[in-house]
Amino acid sequence: MQIVSEIQQIQNLCQTWRNKGESISFVPTMGCLHAGHLSLVKKAQSLADHVVVSIFVNPLQFGDASDFLKYPDTLEEDVRKLEDVSVELVFTPEVRFFYPEGESAVQQIELGAIISILEGKQRPGHFAGVATVVKRLFDLIQPNSAIFGEKDFQQLMVIKQLVEMFSLDIEIIGMPIFRESDGLAMSSRNLRLSKDEREKASEIYRQLESVKAALDMGAMNFSELEAKACENLAFAGFIPEYVVIRETDTLLPPKKHDESKLILAAAKLGEIRLIDNLRI
Ligand code: PAJ
Repeated sequence: MQIVSEIQQIQNLCQTWRNKGESISFVPTMGCLHAGHLSLVKKAQSLADHVVVSIFVNPLQFGDASDFLKYPDTLEEDVRKLEDVSVELVFTPEVRFFYPEGESAVQQIELGAIISILEGKQRPGHFAGVATVVKRLFDLIQPNSAIFGEKDFQQLMVIKQLVEMFSLDIEIIGMPIFRESDGLAMSSRNLRLSKDEREKASEIYRQLESVKAALDMGAMNFSELEAKACENLAFAGFIPEYVVIRETDTLLPPKKHDESKLILAAAKLGEIRLIDNLRI
């Protein structure tokens, strides 16, 4: 496995493959890898001749500098995990070379209405930071496909819009959420939960399941279901931010009965902010 941190080198390697007509699939990450990330890697390996995984904690997408600084650094372990699944190329750029103009001077990419709801509303600037880093990574690697998790469902939509906005010839593939045995969605942030918090954490998934069960039974009182789930989360010790039933294609409140829907939730447990979602 090759680990490359230089911009020029990653460009050259990918260019050589493309010149030979070989395909590239790309999995962007911020490291602290778990089985969810590895499921994206496996998908990429099934699609292309070459797989590139990036590990880069992107300062632009953190509202709070301390959150950025607290992001776990587990590079050695991550590299071992990627080696175990035979990844060919890992890209680990340094912030100062990735954003040579300086973070505060980076011209960020602003997308449409999608960035002002749900996660975008709770975390101003977050999706502009995500779109900006992913666009730069896409430009360097120029993959045929890129794999993202539905764990960050809104992020996946943002990336699809990014590709459309710049007419990029990259297939964006979304993969299902990988969960722990108690239903908690795998996340790098789970490592920061205390033992007590970790035991409670899967309640967020149970609330999503119970909203889903009610909807499957034909319940139509969406706002009541949303409010009840928030109340239950608060009772379990969370600080809920939202539990909402939304239309899958737009993430707006459903207008018609037959639309495909999704329940999304965000809640804090102690210091840790957890998000999850479930398709209906
Ligand atoms: P990160 O949180 O490291 O996640 C990298 C990818 O793994 C994302 O596409 C995310 O949705 C996916 N993922 C995380 N947990 C998952 C789970 N439990 N099941 C399936 N997929 C999961 O998301 C980011 O990094 C960054 O915003 C990034 C896109 C790399 C841009 O900086």
